[in-house]
Amino acid sequence: MQKRSLQTIGRRLVKWYGCAARDLPWRVDPTPYRVLVSEFMLQQTVVGTVIGYFDRWMTQFPDVKALAAASERRVLALWQGLGYYRRATNLHRSARMIVADFDGRIPDSRAELLKLPGVGPYIADAVLSFAFHRHVAVVDANVARVFMRLAGREGLATAGDVRRDVAAWTDAALPSGHSSAYNQALMDFGSVVCRSRTPLCTDCFLRDRCEAQRTGRQYDIPTPPKRRLKKIRTVAAVLIREGCVYLRRRPPTGLFAGMWELPGGRVDDAERPRAALTRICRDELGTPCQSERKLTQLVHHYTVHEVTLHAWLCTPTERLPEDATHRWVPLDELDAYPLPSAERKLLDTTRGSRQ
Ligand code: ADE
Repeated sequence: MQKRSLQTIGRRLVKWYGCAARDLPWRVDPTPYRVLVSEFMLQQTVVGTVIGYFDRWMTQFPDVKALAAASERRVLALWQGLGYYRRATNLHRSARMIVADFDGRIPDSRAELLKLPGVGPYIADAVLSFAFHRHVAVVDANVARVFMRLAGREGLATAGDVRRDVAAWTDAALPSGHSSAYNQALMDFGSVVCRSRTPLCTDCFLRDRCEAQRTGRQYDIPTPPKRRLKKIRTVAAVLIREGCVYLRRRPPTGLFAGMWELPGGRVDDAERPRAALTRICRDELGTPCQSERKLTQLVHHYTVHEVTLHAWLCTPTERLPEDATHRWVPLDELDAYPLPSAERKLLDTTRGSRQ
């Protein structure tokens, strides 16, 4: 694409942003901390979902010191429902590193930002642009789609040569002195106008600059990534005693790190779910647990997994272990425990049916 044309695109985006910017809470007073938190939340999650979480987070943890001082349990409980929980533990660890190593101030250099757990080039550039007004173009999948369409560039947005081209175009279009407005304009433009599946080309203010639109290829650019959902079956035992449910805590690393869950696990390929439940309870709790009745079977999506969870109301045949990672939790205290969404859904149903 021609440099002049790219500059025109950059100027028009900034102008459009001046009158059409979405009203988002992290754009009000974009301090480095507020930008950092919002960008952690916005990775993999849509704006509409993040807004409520962001506002609650700022009430509970108004600054980096408050977050660093909080327990992991509180952090995870507040993140509950947003998914991809590693983001929460990384954000928490980042806050602790900022307090310990950077005197409580979020660093303003790319190299130092990249040292923070969970901060990659995208978040580092977003903080530099939105909070420190540095002259950097921030590129995510939406921005790549916009420029690929403008240039009529086919291929996967993640391909190495495409990424290099996109980086060159976004840099060339960035108007000096308007980094924050330009980058946020692109985010809004990608969400509101140049949408992934339903671009609004008819009313687009960049229509005359768009090669994909001119050649009718806006629906084919970029090439959609191939995604195959992996199907998994899991089982869970709902053990209830005197108004309490038995939960165990997940290990501090890996999927759903540090969250609480019902005893259970994966069903092997040729195994029947009920047999898997008996096996898992025997191996993990030292008692087979008698399954009384099937409560539910629910389907849940995590990243690239489609999980079918089979749950039974069970009675332990022997005393269950009680220690730091296994406990009887009163049903009316469940809200204070961070649980993966599928377990939360399941327990809400169970609680509802018992009240
Ligand atoms: N997606 C990622 N970061 C964003 C931001 N700051 N505003 C809107 N959408 C976003």
